[in-house]
Amino acid sequence: MTAKRTILGIESSCDDTAAAVVQSDRTILSNVVAGQTDLHSAFGGVVPEIAARAHAEKLDITVAKALKDAGKSLADIDAIAVTAGPGLIGGVISGVMMARGLAAGLGKPVIGVNHLAGHALTPRLTDDLPFPYLMLLVSGGHCQFLNVHGPDSFTRLGGTIDDAPGEAFDKVARLLGLPQPGGPSVEAEARTGDPNAIALPRPLLNRDGCDMSFSGLKTAVLRERDKLSEAKGGITKQARADLCASFQSAVSDVLAEKARRAIGEYLKLEPSNPTLAVAGGVAANTQIRSALQTTADAANVAFTAPPLSLCTDNAAMIAWAGLELETIDHPGLTPLIARPRWPLDATSPAMLGSGKKGAKA
Ligand code: KG4
Ligand code: ZN
Repeated sequence: MTAKRTILGIESSCDDTAAAVVQSDRTILSNVVAGQTDLHSAFGGVVPEIAARAHAEKLDITVAKALKDAGKSLADIDAIAVTAGPGLIGGVISGVMMARGLAAGLGKPVIGVNHLAGHALTPRLTDDLPFPYLMLLVSGGHCQFLNVHGPDSFTRLGGTIDDAPGEAFDKVARLLGLPQPGGPSVEAEARTGDPNAIALPRPLLNRDGCDMSFSGLKTAVLRERDKLSEAKGGITKQARADLCASFQSAVSDVLAEKARRAIGEYLKLEPSNPTLAVAGGVAANTQIRSALQTTADAANVAFTAPPLSLCTDNAAMIAWAGLELETIDHPGLTPLIARPRWPLDATSPAMLGSGKKGAKA
């Protein structure tokens, strides 16, 4: 029997400084996330330089808190796993330097983890899901369907050709004067709205396959907002809620229909492992989770979604991915460099468009 391993995970690729201690028996001993929303709120989006400085300032206290919450000292840690990309490069470098410094000082191994792999492997941490499975990774910078074969083995079946849904939620919130991050505030507003009040497009449903597009939807929301404002001399509270509900339903319909098609393609490849999993910040959305559950039920495939705290960015998923990478002969571990772009499936051509985390990989 292999001895239990204890890993410190570090994440700093966007606007959350995070550290966590996770064991190879899947126990999350601590999971600390220090957000930066207040620092960026005046700018309407994440400012890379501000994010990088905040990470550099907060990383050491975040790591110290993760160790304290876990009841561990650095001496108890077997290895350090750190997000090495893709992401905002200043933040990624801050995390990688912190991890390299700690590892050198302790004489322990350091493992570079792809942030997207962290999201994509989360169902193995939470549900011990066997490989392979179909993953919808849907966040602020990414949206893709993946056949997940192993800790560093992914085949992309489809993805967004422009914006990621989380990015669209954030932009819609901005258009309607709601706080960032947009996902939770649009979802809260949508609760009192009518999802059928405003007709919005379901982009790319007329195209075969499971590629997606969300940028036209965001523009349609802008147009509808202006129409509603002109008619009433400003947008009413109810109209804003209706617009949020209609937008959320459009995103949910597109993801559900594309998931139906992705399931069909996936099952042709992996008929004996019928499971759909979802991960990433947008997977925290209740309507989207339940639409995906319905789609999976109709196709007779199992469905799993992580608890909300493991949907959005966190370091427990990075620690877990590090643990998984330790179990295979992983060629990407050395040298550990920070990468702004790092597609999970390097054999598929890059998708069009670019978001806050660069081109959709
Ligand atoms: O995975 P994540 O924390 O960071 C990236 O890797 O991008 O995802 C953040 C994104 C943001 O765009 C945020 O608005 C969105 O996830 N999000 C949500 C919800 N919670 C977070 N979108 C829709 N509904 C939510 N409840
Ligand atoms: Zn993420």
